[in-house]
Amino acid sequence: MRPKHVVESQQFTVPLLLQLFERSAQMEKLVARGGTLDYQDRIMATLFYEPSTRTRFSFESAMYRLGGKVLSTEQARVFSSEVEGEQLEDTIRIISGFADVIVLRHNEAGGARRAAQVSSVPIINAGDGKGGQHPTQALLDLYTIHRERRSLDGLSIAIVGDLDQGRTVRSLAYLLSKFERVKIFFVSPPEVRMKQDILQHLDEHEVWYAIESDIAKVLGEVDVVYQTRIRPERVSDRKSIASYGITAKVLHAMRPNAMVLHPLPRTVEIDKAVDDDPRALYFKQAKNGLFVRMALLTLVLEEE
Ligand code: CP
Repeated sequence: MRPKHVVESQQFTVPLLLQLFERSAQMEKLVARGGTLDYQDRIMATLFYEPSTRTRFSFESAMYRLGGKVLSTEQARVFSSEVEGEQLEDTIRIISGFADVIVLRHNEAGGARRAAQVSSVPIINAGDGKGGQHPTQALLDLYTIHRERRSLDGLSIAIVGDLDQGRTVRSLAYLLSKFERVKIFFVSPPEVRMKQDILQHLDEHEVWYAIESDIAKVLGEVDVVYQTRIRPERVSDRKSIASYGITAKVLHAMRPNAMVLHPLPRTVEIDKAVDDDPRALYFKQAKNGLFVRMALLTLVLEEE
């Protein structure tokens, strides 16, 4: 069941997800004990063509907590030989000779797949392009929900924001389709609705979903509000963006045991007054990224 590469979330089965979540919980305990040196002979390269705070730092922290070593380029578009016209495939062929695993954030959708086709070591997709995927984000999102709720079957979730180009929400939708009796409300301005390929996938897997533009209609119906940014330049009615935000007033309409999640970074879509509410789990969610990425590294670095 061990994946060689982690390119897209469709490749995860429910048993593999549950194994990963169990291992992530073990990693949480391991970090509390100060980590391990078990991976001291392993090297991870982080190759980032786009900016990142959470994904790169958590992967690098994960490797250090496992005792491994890290090679890093956080601005590969400037500080790699792409500047000289080198193709991604050649860069990957070279780095796979220096590292045991490559964590790649690429600016083009499909970048991770291209890298996986030529790499001799595991490639982990840390987000590729607009409208691509960000599978490790979706894994930590699901881990957070699973940790709080114990089961993902029967989950009701509102996925809110700029959905057509959101790689985190695309990866999340694919993962959610693996579970039973899931209900997904896609809430967005009309211009940035979830793309047809995801809706078709949900139809094929008989997953219940609804397209909605009024968040107020779904707040009382869901276990999770998964909030994302809406970029003002992508919608015609910029004033309407505020109506998709989470404020203290909006919290009143949510279930008492609901969760507010966000892949972060946030701008204005979650008011800071929400941060102290016990339902606001986005900072805990980001921290869970460390444990899930440790678990994922141990999975892809396992000996045959
Ligand atoms: N959620 C996420 O991918 O954050 P970063 O861009 O900071 O990595």
